[in-house]
Amino acid sequence: MEKNDNIFVGLDVGTTKVCAIVAEAKGGSLEIIGVGASGSVGLKNGVVVNIENTVESITKAVEDAELMAGYQIQDAYVGIAGSHIRGFNSRGIVAVKSREVTQQDVDRVISAAKTISIPIDHEVIHVMPQGFTVDDQDDIKNPIGMSGLRLEANVHIVTASSIAAQNIVKCANKSGIDVSEIVLEQIASSEAVLTEDEKELGVALIDIGGGTTDVAIFHRGNIVHTFVIPKGGQSVTSDVSKGTTTIPQEAEKIKIKFGIAKESLASKDEIIEIPGFGGRPPRPISRQLLGNIIEQRMAEIFTWIRKNIEKNGLESKILSGYVVTGGAALIEGSVELAVEIFNAPVRIGYPLNFGGLTDVISSPIYSTGVGLVKYAYKNRNELNKKAFSSKRSPDNPFATIKNWFSDLIEYFF
Ligand SMILES: Nc1ncnc2c1ncn2[C@@H]1O[C@H](COP(=O)(O)OP(=O)(O)OP(=O)(O)O)[C@@H](O)[C@H]1O
Ligand SMILES: [Mg+2]
Repeated sequence: MEKNDNIFVGLDVGTTKVCAIVAEAKGGSLEIIGVGASGSVGLKNGVVVNIENTVESITKAVEDAELMAGYQIQDAYVGIAGSHIRGFNSRGIVAVKSREVTQQDVDRVISAAKTISIPIDHEVIHVMPQGFTVDDQDDIKNPIGMSGLRLEANVHIVTASSIAAQNIVKCANKSGIDVSEIVLEQIASSEAVLTEDEKELGVALIDIGGGTTDVAIFHRGNIVHTFVIPKGGQSVTSDVSKGTTTIPQEAEKIKIKFGIAKESLASKDEIIEIPGFGGRPPRPISRQLLGNIIEQRMAEIFTWIRKNIEKNGLESKILSGYVVTGGAALIEGSVELAVEIFNAPVRIGYPLNFGGLTDVISSPIYSTGVGLVKYAYKNRNELNKKAFSSKRSPDNPFATIKNWFSDLIEYFF
């Protein structure tokens, strides 16, 4: 089948599910035309630990999405997460060669900002400009054409373990998919669930998945901070399993059916029935007890985030509040608990502003997959196509990164 340049594919290889989303650009907006999801068992805390199982899950999700979309998927934007991810800010300074800032000066200053030491086994996956300074004038979004002698750039850099990234690319390739780009999962999710106003005013995006909780903070429209916590809904399930002496599969069902992220949401006399295992009869437990177990873990995750934000001095920049997405955001009371811990407005993030199969994708578990499609669409629309036409090879998924800088400027400003 011919490749259709109006079709974009996102592949979210998550710890509990893999999903492939196919969208078509129609009249300036995106319509979701195919969704495929399958259970994932080849990852641990966001990182591929079993190639064969992951390939199987990707193949199934891709086939289902293809069937629904009536389109054969050839390439996709693929998400990456895991505690190997590092996000930090950097600054570059160069002299302006001809006293008027040109694209070459911008390329050089971004390269200079990127000249930082990163661990030998890591690769840069994103370089996101935050703003420029020309001589003493700061906060410039696009400096090209401005007169000056000195150009400075602030950028947010994200690095990933090369091995972890190569394994994701390998799994996609083995499933017959070329990887157009690897995208940090919370950057993708933010494309799906945040509004431009929130990003401008300052917002924290929290994607609580199964194996990781991924955070991105935006201020004045730019990403200013990213980090990943290797805990998520699976830790909650594991706690419920231990705390109620049930097998993990039952604990997962109990969590989804009766789980509450705040103990106080259940009354003292509310009793739920836990299925017995190994032929034992069902047992009654107090829903408050279940809430107590879940609240402790969810509070730990939110507190971890709050401390990281405080350590980085960012709490005053998060003026529009917190947006919680990912499957674990669906635990009843997660918003109430987050409000208490962050002492700020909180909402659940659902994929926004898409046409087509909106009913299917309108869940926080699809934020990353849908966001990948939006990221792909923005990239292909706004970037110089040439820079992205050379595919990354599986051996070097970052082969195109050095060509990105000038294009990124156009993309983000
Ligand atoms: N309705 C629900 N109520 C409570 N929890 C839910 C619900 N639906 C899903 N979850 C939980 O959300 C988690 C999965 O979320 P998600 O699909 O976002 O994760 P993932 O993308 O597979 O993992 P990760 O992003 O961490 O690699 C699981 O732990 C699951 O138990
Ligand atoms: Mg996820």
